[in-house]
Amino acid sequence: MSEPLSQPATANLLTDNPELYEARFPDPERLAGRWAEDCLRRYGAGPRVLDLGCGTGRDAAHLHRAGRTVTGADLSDAMLAYARAQHPGPEYVRADLRQFALPGREFDAVVCLDSALLYCHTNAELDGCLASVRRSLAPGGLLVAEMRNGAFFLGRTELLDAPRVNGFTWRGVAYESTTTLYVDRTAQLLRRTRVWTADDGSEPAEQRSAWRLLFPLELRHMVASHGFEVLALYDGPGPRTEPEWREGDAPGAVTDADRLHLVARRLN
Ligand SMILES: C[S@@+](CC[C@H](N)C(=O)[O-])C[C@H]1O[C@@H](n2cnc3c(N)ncnc32)[C@H](O)[C@@H]1O
Repeated sequence: MSEPLSQPATANLLTDNPELYEARFPDPERLAGRWAEDCLRRYGAGPRVLDLGCGTGRDAAHLHRAGRTVTGADLSDAMLAYARAQHPGPEYVRADLRQFALPGREFDAVVCLDSALLYCHTNAELDGCLASVRRSLAPGGLLVAEMRNGAFFLGRTELLDAPRVNGFTWRGVAYESTTTLYVDRTAQLLRRTRVWTADDGSEPAEQRSAWRLLFPLELRHMVASHGFEVLALYDGPGPRTEPEWREGDAPGAVTDADRLHLVARRLN
């Protein structure tokens, strides 16, 4: 019997409230979408794109406006409903990125942004995802992924030492989140506890989630073992790096900082 998938990571104040998600993580200049489109052009991808873990749909819609035929896939019904209403153009479908099949559809590229790939916690889930991506791509199709870099945490504790407090106001309510990260070395996961408070009288809410800590050579090996050639693997510049990626920037050559950017091509 195959290993059961772990509990989905979608029971979450932000993914259950997509408007709040966009308020907390604004991207008014569509940097992530522009970076993805630049990658697709740089490596010569065809027009049919799957945005895996598409969230609110803002990147999928950007790729649609760039002239691509886009399908956005997510496990959160709230995200999908919001994407259909607020970022129309792409088709939005419910799918679990850890194992999926989209019958009748074939893609020239799969994009997977902002650490969505790291919701694959176990090796079996990563295998399931990469096998599904491979099946959904035409020969020569691209996988473009952007995520945290597990290797960043080797010898660095700056993201782990103290809780981070963030505040923002949305629709007249002031929200504050206190985020604590911890490295679970046995499971090779970065675990997060986030406590939300709001000044609207609601009770504080605590949420837990986790991301796989993937190391660059491990990712390279897994992708290659699923029949992909790695074209680029680097820490920046990208849409969530400091400094941010700008049009015309070339991919980097090292994998030291806190983000990883992967471009891989399906062989035959
Ligand atoms: C950090 S958000 C990133 C959203 C979007 N890619 C972006 O960059 O704005 C992660 C997304 O992955 C989705 N997600 C989490 N686990 C998933 C799974 N197993 N299958 C499909 N989507 C999943 C969540 O619902 C959420 O929309």
